[in-house]
Amino acid sequence: MKISKRSIFRAFLAAGLCWAGMAMADDHFSTATDPTWKAECGSCHVAYPPQLLPAGSWRALMSGLDKHFGSDASLDPQTAAGIAAFLEENAGRDRSSSRTPALRITETRWFVHEHDEVPDRAWKNPQVKSAANCTACHIDGDKGNFSEHNIRIPK
Ligand code: HEC
Ligand code: HEC
Repeated sequence: MKISKRSIFRAFLAAGLCWAGMAMADDHFSTATDPTWKAECGSCHVAYPPQLLPAGSWRALMSGLDKHFGSDASLDPQTAAGIAAFLEENAGRDRSSSRTPALRITETRWFVHEHDEVPDRAWKNPQVKSAANCTACHIDGDKGNFSEHNIRIPK
């Protein structure tokens, strides 16, 4: 590995993520998975890894599924409760100082830092459309693999 400012930053980031209890083995997020979650929360977009938001964020998201980013993602109460429990058990640590929980991974400081080298034109590419469209670039994101070795930015 080249020793650059970025690689030092990355080492710190990796340490920080481990410290936060985000199990990262071989550049994979821990593969905590649940079939109901995967089916229900992976139908409109990739099932976002639970580690990427703290429990409070998942709780807030799960209590407003009828008004979910302009969509109705409502579930019957039992299914919703099961998914909420899975997400909260596998949630990341809350590293924000804000009292209102973030509802978007893409607005967390972690996300912005990790993607600071992605050029503007990539975000604006019609094949990407939204930063939340992880699988536009993370080609194995649907398998929970967000490794830097499995990225292809659409041209
Ligand atoms: C009916 C379709 C639909 C279903 C089902 C759905 N979502 Fe979403 N979700 C959306 C849309 C639309 C967005 C906004 C995407 C964008 O901004 O490009 C979104 C965004 C999100 C975001 C924010 C992404 C970001 O960081 O910008 C999270 C987190 C999320 N959904 C979690 C969930 C969870 C958890 C479930 C399962 C309980 C779920 N979604 C089910 C449609 C859906
Ligand atoms: C426009 C393309 C693009 C989109 C969309 C995108 N990413 Fe990325 N992502 C990248 C690039 C490029 C990197 C940086 C790789 C590097 O140089 O470390 C990255 C890095 C990452 C990393 C760190 C990987 C590693 O091995 O260090 C994670 C985790 C990640 N992204 C998750 C996500 C998630 C979750 C979403 C959706 C909410 C998302 N990304 C959306 C392009 C994208």
